[in-house]
Amino acid sequence: MKRIFEVQPWNVETHEFKAENKRLQESMTSLGNGYMGMRGFFDEDYSGDSLPGIYLGGVWYPDKTRVGWWKNGYPKYFGKVINAVNFIKMNFEINGSKLDLAKDTISDFDLNLDLKNAVLTRSFVVTKGDSKIQFDFERFLSVAQKELSVQKVIFKNLSSNPVDIKVISSIDANVKNEDANYDEHFWEVRHIDENSLVAETTANDFGTPRFTSGMQATYVTSFEQVNNEVTDLETATTFSGKLNENEVGTIEKRVIVVTSRDYDSTADLTASMNNLSSTISDSSYDQLLTAHSNVWAERWQQSDIQIMGDDEAQQGIRFNLFGLFTTYYGDDARLNIGPKGFTGEKYGGATYWDTEAFAVPVYLGITKPEVTKNLLMYRYKQLDGAYVNAQEQGLKGALYPMVTFNGIECHNEWEITFEEIHRNGDIAFAIYNYTRYTGDKSYVLHEGSKVLTEISRFWADRVHFSQRNNQYMIHGVTGPDEYENNVDNNWNTNYLARWTLEYTLKVLNEVAPEQAKQLNVSDEEKAKWQDIVDRMYLPYDKDLDIFVQHDGFLDKDLQPVSSIPADQLPINQHWSWDKILRSPYIKQGDVLQVMYDFIDSFTEEEKKHNFDFYEPLTVHESSLSAAIYSVVAADLHYEKKAVELYERTARLDLDNYNNDTVDGLHITSMTGGWISIVQGFAGMRVHDDTLSYKPFLPQKWNSYSFRQVFRGRVIEVAVDNKGSHFKLISGEPLNIEVDGKPLSLESLQTN
Ligand code: BGC
Repeated sequence: MKRIFEVQPWNVETHEFKAENKRLQESMTSLGNGYMGMRGFFDEDYSGDSLPGIYLGGVWYPDKTRVGWWKNGYPKYFGKVINAVNFIKMNFEINGSKLDLAKDTISDFDLNLDLKNAVLTRSFVVTKGDSKIQFDFERFLSVAQKELSVQKVIFKNLSSNPVDIKVISSIDANVKNEDANYDEHFWEVRHIDENSLVAETTANDFGTPRFTSGMQATYVTSFEQVNNEVTDLETATTFSGKLNENEVGTIEKRVIVVTSRDYDSTADLTASMNNLSSTISDSSYDQLLTAHSNVWAERWQQSDIQIMGDDEAQQGIRFNLFGLFTTYYGDDARLNIGPKGFTGEKYGGATYWDTEAFAVPVYLGITKPEVTKNLLMYRYKQLDGAYVNAQEQGLKGALYPMVTFNGIECHNEWEITFEEIHRNGDIAFAIYNYTRYTGDKSYVLHEGSKVLTEISRFWADRVHFSQRNNQYMIHGVTGPDEYENNVDNNWNTNYLARWTLEYTLKVLNEVAPEQAKQLNVSDEEKAKWQDIVDRMYLPYDKDLDIFVQHDGFLDKDLQPVSSIPADQLPINQHWSWDKILRSPYIKQGDVLQVMYDFIDSFTEEEKKHNFDFYEPLTVHESSLSAAIYSVVAADLHYEKKAVELYERTARLDLDNYNNDTVDGLHITSMTGGWISIVQGFAGMRVHDDTLSYKPFLPQKWNSYSFRQVFRGRVIEVAVDNKGSHFKLISGEPLNIEVDGKPLSLESLQTN
């Protein structure tokens, strides 16, 4: 395999610059601080193909869409995160000629994302006529001061003759989304002056909020300011200087970025922008960088995973954790985790079931419980939207959306919008998962019980009773495997519906009388739910002893993935949609997703039969797939398979497995790296309030170790060829279980 980026433990680095890899490099070198993020596009204009993108968490736009306008019940708009005003723009002129890497002759190219410190650097030497200049760029989005973006550029004259250099630095509101349906500009400038710009998103027909964002730049430079030009959409400041041989010029651009999400009025927003700008002007570049790096050091200290003996695997997991930390660190309960984080436009930066099914298990293990609780609260606060979604389908209760910013469904493909309702069960499962892991019942007995009740009301109305079979069924759904649409009795969906009803009934028995009164579930309603639990149809094949993905699945032409010619993979880029739907190929875990969720509820035989049957049919063309199979494979002691699937999830973007990293990174596969190692290789589970492990060491690895947060403790787990070692890093003593045997962790214990 030809790799674009080198394999290094803490870096994503390349010395190669090729126009055809530009978008991919931009995705791979994205930065973020949870509040905002950006692709690794160049500071200066680039006339070749590129996908510039800066995104502000929670700043979105309801884009009109015509899909399905003639059928009732369709969402009115597609919500998407929009390209923010470009505040990093900095152009350079060398003796009057504009720097443009699409056209210029360059050498000594280096592009390097430092994962440890979350800093992106780029350097090269450009030759223009008889001038030769070395450029060194550096940028970071501060985690110590979330509103702060910092860029530094150093330029050195390597030629013997003096060179005139101009830096034209702007804040530019002339930006668009590549995926805009109507080629709209989303920003209207409200205020613009010498070094700041305040813009508001354009009005929309849907009553969703408009956002204001403000950016203010300050500069530290060895050059002289020679001009300032303010136009309708852009404020540009020009600095100029002459460099003799070996002379060096520098410019630092610090931008404060504020949004109306944090301020009641534009006056407050502007005042804060001014304040923050003057506060940071007291600090040197190094001080700003150190404050930022210190926070990153703490994060790594708490959750780094070290793998010895396999550099690819090591880089994979660090890149994964980096991707998660840049996207979300739980600081703002109003935000969620978009499938591409801040690395691209695809999936619109919106909230998907990915959060509950994939991010929740990881955040439980790497941060304090409040972070995950915030993710659960996010759904509770969006219950009103979920009622609307159910009503649109003529159903009772709450249907959480497949894609949303505010609780209202904003995805417009009928087979997903209306049919991919398993998500409602996954959201219920996350409540259980949180409670099981943390032992904290405060959510489930209050807000959670409301969410569960309303989801259960939806399920009870969505099922129908088949007189012929004397069983409840769910027709017309799409399971997690989106390569099958409009199927009847998807095992995953039916299982989750039944489980949710059962779990809700259990929770209702535990809530305080006042809460029960408020939930108002009558005995009749409870009896109905119990009846559904008792008589839910779950497709099963006796001969194969497997749970059947849906009613018609076994009638397909069940040829394994290995029979597909290699040049036709991934099938979603080579086959028509119709051919995919007719095929038996599974995009991502469907039956296996439920087996992963409830891994201890199935017998070893059941897991084995289902894994052996479904895995050969799975193409893993979703980033939500490999990790799930990896955990089940590890549980079955299929070590080789488990490791192969780990590599696929952890290096999905680094190796561009699905050939779509150009669009942005896959945040969900990044959660998969952690899930595969901790739940897969280390076999971590929580059962009846007990934390347990069944670790194994992948053959290629010499050792691995990780830290995990559990009920007020930080625990270190290390596995090598001598066995497994457990250490209590902080917190109260704890009894755990290793390979079925009790172990008490006092401090510095090993087994
Ligand atoms: C997957 C969905 C997922 C979405 C966003 C799709 O390709 O099939 O399960 O929610 O991507 O990651």
